[in-house]
Amino acid sequence: MILVTGATGTLGGPVVQRLREAGADVHGLSRREREPEPGLTWHKGDLWTGDGVDAAVEGAETIVHCASDPLHPKRDLPAARRLVEAARRQGAPHLVYISIVGVDRIPYGYYRTKHAVERLVEDSGLPYTILRATQFHTLPNAVFDILTKVPGVVAVPRGLRDQPIDAAEVAARLADLALAAGPARRVADMGGPEVLTVEEMLRDYLAARGLRRPVRVPLPLPGKAGRGFRDGHHLTPDHAVGKRTWRQFLEEAHGPR
Ligand SMILES: NC(=O)c1ccc[n+]([C@@H]2O[C@H](COP(=O)([O-])OP(=O)(O)OC[C@H]3O[C@@H](n4cnc5c(N)ncnc54)[C@H](OP(=O)(O)O)[C@@H]3O)[C@@H](O)[C@H]2O)c1
Repeated sequence: MILVTGATGTLGGPVVQRLREAGADVHGLSRREREPEPGLTWHKGDLWTGDGVDAAVEGAETIVHCASDPLHPKRDLPAARRLVEAARRQGAPHLVYISIVGVDRIPYGYYRTKHAVERLVEDSGLPYTILRATQFHTLPNAVFDILTKVPGVVAVPRGLRDQPIDAAEVAARLADLALAAGPARRVADMGGPEVLTVEEMLRDYLAARGLRRPVRVPLPLPGKAGRGFRDGHHLTPDHAVGKRTWRQFLEEAHGPR
C-alpha cells in the first residue's frame, strides 16, 4: 500500500496515476472529502492540524510526500513532522520526498523550509528517498498568466534563468522510486531539458498565446536569495534529463501557434 500526500496536486495527481497503472494499492490524502475510485482510496486529513493523518498512514508500506502549502510555507515543516511521527507509530514505511534543486544554497524562505524538511526526513530514522527537481512548466506559466493579466509592458528580472521540467516526468521518476525494492537516500537531481532565460521563456509564452506585448528586463532580482537564483543554484545542467521542452508544453497548454 502506497500513500501519496498532495495527491490532488500538480505532481501528486500524476504520481497517483502512475502508481495505479503499475497496479499498486494507492491511497491519497486530501483536506477535502473525495469519492473513491478503482485502485484509489481517499483519506480526508490535514497535515497542518494533524486531523486524519494517523488513519491515512495506517498500513502504508511507502509514503510519497508531495503535499506542500507554498502560501503558508512555515507550515510545511510541522506538517512533515506530523507525517513522520505518524509513520514511526505505524512501523517504518519508506518515505519518498520531493524537494527542489538548490534548496540548500538559496536563502529563500520556501527553500529554507524545504531544506529543513529534507533534514527532518534524513534524521527521521525511517528508510527514505529524496529527489530534487527543477521548476515544473506550470509554475512559470502561472506567473506569466498573472503578469499578462494587466495590459502593457511585461517586466521580468534581468539575468534570471530557469530549467523547467514536465511534472509528469518527475512524477514518473518519483513513482519508480516509490515502487523500488528499497530506499535510495538522496538520488541524482532531475532537471528539464534546457536552461533558458526567463526573457526567452516569456517571449515563447507570449508567442504561444498570440499576445503582442513589449518586454522589459529592467533589474536583476535583489537580495541574497536573488543572488542565489542569479548564480543559477536552482539549475542542474548536468542532470538535464527531462524530455518535454518549454515550447512543447506551451503548445499543448495554449494550442498551436
Ligand atoms: N511546482 C514546482 O515547480 C515544483 C518543483 C519542484 C518540486 N516541487 C515540490 O513538489 C511538491 C508538489 O508541488 P505541486 O506544485 O504539485 O503542489 P500543488 O499543486 O500546489 O499541490 C499541493 C498539494 O498539497 C496538498 N496540501 C496542502 N496543504 C496540505 C495540508 N495541510 N494537509 C494535507 N495536504 C495538503 C494539497 O491537497 P488538498 O488541497 O487536496 O488538500 C495539494 O494536493 C511540493 O513539495 C513542491 O515543493 C514543486
